[in-house]
Amino acid sequence: MFAPLNPPLKDWAGKRVWLIGASSGIGAALARRLIDAGARVALTARDAARLAEVAGRAPNVLQLPMDVSEPGALARGAAELWACWGGIDAVFFVAARYRPVRAWELDDDDVDATLRTNVAAVMHGCAAVLPGMLVQQSGALVIVSSVAGYRGLPKALVYGASKAALINFAEVLYMDVRPRGLGVHLVCPGFVETPLTAQNDFTMPALISADEAAGHILTGLARGDFHIHFPKRFTGWLRVLRLLPYRLYFAAVRRMTGL
Ligand SMILES: NC(=O)c1ccc[n+]([C@@H]2O[C@H](COP(=O)([O-])OP(=O)(O)OC[C@H]3O[C@@H](n4cnc5c(N)ncnc54)[C@H](OP(=O)(O)O)[C@@H]3O)[C@@H](O)[C@H]2O)c1
Repeated sequence: MFAPLNPPLKDWAGKRVWLIGASSGIGAALARRLIDAGARVALTARDAARLAEVAGRAPNVLQLPMDVSEPGALARGAAELWACWGGIDAVFFVAARYRPVRAWELDDDDVDATLRTNVAAVMHGCAAVLPGMLVQQSGALVIVSSVAGYRGLPKALVYGASKAALINFAEVLYMDVRPRGLGVHLVCPGFVETPLTAQNDFTMPALISADEAAGHILTGLARGDFHIHFPKRFTGWLRVLRLLPYRLYFAAVRRMTGL
């Protein structure tokens, strides 16, 4: 009925893709699917040994280990990829850190590390690749946020704020770069079984596997969606909660979580 908000991304064969946060969970699952689809892939995370495992024996896979929270790391990575590939077709910003935090557990080091990894690194990564993509007049920026960024949720005191920042960032980025030929995709997963959620001490509703999550993301990209959220049986409820006035929202969350 409506035209897609972004150029649909379907045929990955030969595409030059930088996956940031590819050593485990959703990023590793995306890497495996994109490698199988014939993309030329660069894998980034801190753990070089796990990146090598994800790369396996596939040709056309570069390993670019780094700590994205270190100043200048993403700019150096982007320059290296541009020199090697002559351009980049898509960047997936998947890397993040999460610690369940309640108000009385706020910790300076955790705040700094979370905001540097989850927010600043995405902005620095975009700053590093945008000049080249704007010259190309093409390229996709895939930003993985979370349903925890829709509205405040208990235990996501710092993480939720970092993901809310990414939602706002992706919206503004879209308005700036879509008219210049680029695509921006905002990914908001529900609960996915990965090392990140292994530390949760509660039953996670509508939990899906990392591979299912990767499948949802690639389906959304193939449709050209801006907002890719899944599984719908969970995110649908959260999108309704998003619309409630505060009095009803706070009461509903307290009732659902007991916190
Ligand atoms: N799992 C869920 O239920 C869920 C729900 C909503 C949103 N998300 C989002 O989905 C994305 C992937 O999460 P996941 O669940 O797949 O978690 P995960 O398995 O813990 O993966 C996180 C990835 O980020 C990398 N990373 C973390 N800090 C880094 C740093 N400083 N420098 C470079 N790489 C770093 C990790 O690699 P190294 O440790 O090797 O550096 C790893 O590859 C995240 O953005 C997360 O917020 C997840």
